Amino acid sequence: MEQDLAGFYDSAYARGGERHARWRELGARGKADHVIRLAHAATLASERVVEIGCGDGALLAELSARHFGTSLSGFEISETALELARGRSITRAGRLEQFDGRRLPAADGEFDLAVLSHVLEHVPEPVPLLREAARVAKAVIVEVPLERNLSGARGGKRAESEAIGHLEALDRGAVRRLVAEAGLRVIEELLDPLSRDVHTFFTDTPVQRARGLAKAAVRRGLFTLSESAAERAFTLHYACACVPR
Ligand SMILES: C[S@@+](CC[C@H](N)C(=O)[O-])C[C@H]1O[C@@H](n2cnc3c(N)ncnc32)[C@H](O)[C@@H]1O
Repeated sequence: MEQDLAGFYDSAYARGGERHARWRELGARGKADHVIRLAHAATLASERVVEIGCGDGALLAELSARHFGTSLSGFEISETALELARGRSITRAGRLEQFDGRRLPAADGEFDLAVLSHVLEHVPEPVPLLREAARVAKAVIVEVPLERNLSGARGGKRAESEAIGHLEALDRGAVRRLVAEAGLRVIEELLDPLSRDVHTFFTDTPVQRARGLAKAAVRRGLFTLSESAAERAFTLHYACACVPR
């Protein structure tokens, strides 16, 4: 077990509070949209689903509420996060267990679909973890924030990302390289400039809310005009469905 890393996330989940729990639930709605969209588009088998780095189980609970999967399991390095996940109502919950961040205590092909949602950017060695996901599941869905862009390169933004455990700022090319190194290939992908609700969540005054709404509108507008220009300018969420090469 990478004690320091697990301890870092234990503390983060312990001090998060109610507002951060709601933030993760809002995020889970978008992430579940992506998982379901990609699984359908790529016609992936998605009965036995496992989320690796499942955190407090917000995404598993959202997938469960949408009747996705016949069993939903999660592995996590943080025991504090797992306690929160076990406290959720996840119907059809399968295994919810701690692991060492490297080797999953699961058999080859135990699952149909593995999900690594906003995890790769937190992991010192993402390729072995992707390989491990591909060992236990037939297909892997990966989602990450694409932070290698003009806005993300600003000092303040990088510091914010590092404070929440992001070890690397990824772009789409970097994700594709990691996927390929792990022996996988991308068969479907999507980009998301994020909803108005996300951009206005941490606002407390009408002025802040107006700024959040304006930011959401500008970003959505640029994204509609040119996805690649948006990708270079600010952070988008990128999700892809991968299968063995
Ligand atoms: C931003 S959270 C994402 C949680 C959840 N997947 C989601 O999308 O809501 C990142 C999670 O990755 C976990 N994590 C960090 N290093 C990990 C590793 N080596 N293996 C698996 N999970 C790890 C953290 O404990 C944390 O719960």
